Amino acid sequence: MAAAVDRAMADIRAIEGANTEGGTITRAGVEAIRDRLIELTSHRELFSLAAFPPPGEGDKLNSCLYRLAQDDDDRFVLYANASRGGVGTPAHNHTTWAVVVGFEGQELNRFYRRADEGGVEQVDQHMVEAGTGVAMLPDDLHSIHIDGPALNFHCYGLALERLDRREYYDVRTAAWKVFPAHTDIREARLDRVC
Ligand SMILES: [Fe+2]
Repeated sequence: MAAAVDRAMADIRAIEGANTEGGTITRAGVEAIRDRLIELTSHRELFSLAAFPPPGEGDKLNSCLYRLAQDDDDRFVLYANASRGGVGTPAHNHTTWAVVVGFEGQELNRFYRRADEGGVEQVDQHMVEAGTGVAMLPDDLHSIHIDGPALNFHCYGLALERLDRREYYDVRTAAWKVFPAHTDIREARLDRVC
């Protein structure tokens, strides 16, 4: 698994480098990253569901993240996201490019634009499952909805621990808020765990 992940991340660095304009990756670039990750995850023998268990009975959260790759400067990060279902997020951006590809189960991605009167308006959706994925620029808005058990892969231009300006729309208070940076990611890089 580790060598194949390393090759994919090397390709992704090169894709970003070749598809950046004015300091920002292009949509074609992030879509090419999505396609590279679909290719990686098509090698199903590389990833074992047993290696990425979802949270257990006693856990508060219904999903957890395993770190599979991250550069020393926290760029180019790949996580496995394991869920037992019952997951739903508000609409949010990422402040870096983001890709989700499916492996097992389903993750519904809904896409939004900022509505003129405030709030968000859904403009599209895509069911992420094995062989498919979605690609987002830093300002793109999505929400994810996972009903049953699922394992999928999330790739970002910068580590979630560093993303402390991600905005989400809180429907209850009808206000934009900022997600705190993630802190509970499980290490799964083979050279870092023993
Ligand atoms: Fe997201």
